[in-house]
Amino acid sequence: MEKSDMIEKLKDYLPEKRWTHSLNVARAAVRLAELMGCDSEKAEIAGILHDTAKYVKLADVGSYCDKYNIKLDDMEKKSTALSHSILGSYIAKYEFGIDDENILSAIRYHTTAKPAMNTLEEIIYVADVIEIGRDYPGVDDLREVALSGDLDRAVLMALENAIMSVMRKKAPLHLRTIEARNYYLAKVKGK
Ligand SMILES: [Fe+2]
Ligand SMILES: [Fe+2]
Repeated sequence: MEKSDMIEKLKDYLPEKRWTHSLNVARAAVRLAELMGCDSEKAEIAGILHDTAKYVKLADVGSYCDKYNIKLDDMEKKSTALSHSILGSYIAKYEFGIDDENILSAIRYHTTAKPAMNTLEEIIYVADVIEIGRDYPGVDDLREVALSGDLDRAVLMALENAIMSVMRKKAPLHLRTIEARNYYLAKVKGK
């Protein structure tokens, strides 16, 4: 599918605000990819498609799992905040025709992250929270670190922001996020 068709089709999945966010993430991802010497075409596509499942209702998650043979753990089953990234990777594959495993994996892990992500996964994780429409305390610092090319430190900062935000909401934290934070903390400290 052509990129322009993808962007048009995305309107069937997302309200305008989230559609704009997706294009902003794609733009931020291209910038980071160029900075890191990563494939900017893949970064752009992953950014465009990362949130396709954001508006799938909890009651409909089961039917997607049956349709595409998706396995979710117990926490993911209860939370669309967690499952939308996993469902999104299948929607990208089966409804947008993406077969590149790196793109699919970057979409899959954009909410929880995981330890030892590859560069594209790291780029999408960070691009999601530094895109131009984001405005929260600390976003400028995070943008600056990310655009300085210290992607490991940017991932760590983004993870710590995410963990604190989940705690403030009194929501459960996925273990993958904690493991990712410990991994990137050790990596940054070891530099
Ligand atoms: Fe998302
Ligand atoms: Fe997003």
